Amino acid sequence: MEPTAEANSARDKLGRHLRDLRISVTDRCNFRCPYCMPKEVFGPGHAFLDRSSLLTFEELAELVAVFASLGVRKVRLTGGEPLLRREIESLVAKIALVPEIEDLALTTNGMLLAAKAQALASAGLKRVTVSLDALDQEHFAAMNGVGARVDKVLAGIEAAALAGLAPIKINCVIRRGVNDTEILALVRRFRGTGHIVRFIEYMDVGTTNGWKPEDVVPASEILEKISSEFPIEPIDPTLPGEVATRYRFSDGSGEIGVIASITQPFCKECTRARLSADGHLFTCLFASNGTDLRDMVRSGATASQLAQRIASVWKARDDRYSELRDELIEMTARQGQPANLSATPVAVRPPRRRAEMSYLGG
Ligand code: GTP
Ligand code: 5AD
Ligand code: SF4
Ligand code: SF4
Repeated sequence: MEPTAEANSARDKLGRHLRDLRISVTDRCNFRCPYCMPKEVFGPGHAFLDRSSLLTFEELAELVAVFASLGVRKVRLTGGEPLLRREIESLVAKIALVPEIEDLALTTNGMLLAAKAQALASAGLKRVTVSLDALDQEHFAAMNGVGARVDKVLAGIEAAALAGLAPIKINCVIRRGVNDTEILALVRRFRGTGHIVRFIEYMDVGTTNGWKPEDVVPASEILEKISSEFPIEPIDPTLPGEVATRYRFSDGSGEIGVIASITQPFCKECTRARLSADGHLFTCLFASNGTDLRDMVRSGATASQLAQRIASVWKARDDRYSELRDELIEMTARQGQPANLSATPVAVRPPRRRAEMSYLGG
């Protein structure tokens, strides 16, 4: 009998399997969303990775096969903006050939999607997730930092639907006072289309976005707002460990999700590893350091040596950053004080410079 993925895969210190791999294929982006790549930091003088630092498609495919041998079944291509990587569809085609990979998806800001959707689908991509923070052009420009046009993204979503890259998920990061007025507009627009809008609590990822707890709109508030106009009811996760909590419209017109990493952390079931554009393995979105796999690949390590290295990193993993953040909030509340996450002690807030999401993969 075939050994099951479960039996094969390593468990970390908290008993979690390695199941998903999120790959950042470039640290560059054509947007400057202030919550991710603020233009004051990622300006013309910013040193992005040079081409030779990036893993080649052959190296990436080799690593995906190794991760698959350790239990990975789901791969997501991210960035930065993955569609900026030239001929990304040929990477998709290579990964699609790895037999164990059951789900191959890509997260994009949608600007280049209209031109690429068909090629991606033909290469074997199963589905896309498109970031879209507002429908109103002014709000959208404030969220993307470069004045990009919302109609381009909408055209990308349409092209992806035509190419069969479904179910299309639409990610919307909500920031209080910036785009919280867009919640109902997005729900109204996409209800009944089959696309799934997911509202994401603004996170303290990286060190450059100036995150403040006051900027977060809790998922509970988002859901209340939606249900004031559209009755919704909770539904089961599609897969264990899914980041989004799902709801369906009671009238059967589709579903929405909330990703409540701040108010309802989901570390307990976190089966995600991340590979940065320069081939470093990270075991948490909030980690400071990764393990260099690129050097190993380039110095001729065998698949079995790579697998051993990855398994040993995974076995040593005890990350649960979002829960620690949550514990701090509870602790301060018990002491009768308002939680002040900006003053989070070193034990909870990593002391070193945390990696940026555009580098290690969203
Ligand atoms: P599905 O495969 O469709 O479930 O997609 P996904 O939700 O895994 O992927 P997507 O790229 O759409 O992720 C949605 C958002 O969830 C990301 O933008 C992050 O903001 C957040 N997220 C994803 N993974 C993690 C994680 O491991 N930890 C935390 N804290 N947030 C995460
Ligand atoms: N908080 C929450 N989500 C974020 N994303 C990027 N930065 C943040 C943040 N600080 C989201 C993007 C995209 C996904 C990959 O991550 O909007 O949908
Ligand atoms: Fe680019 Fe996505 Fe970051 Fe916005 S959130 S700057 S689109 S990588
Ligand atoms: Fe996983 Fe780290 Fe996110 Fe927790 S904070 S869900 S451990 S990536």
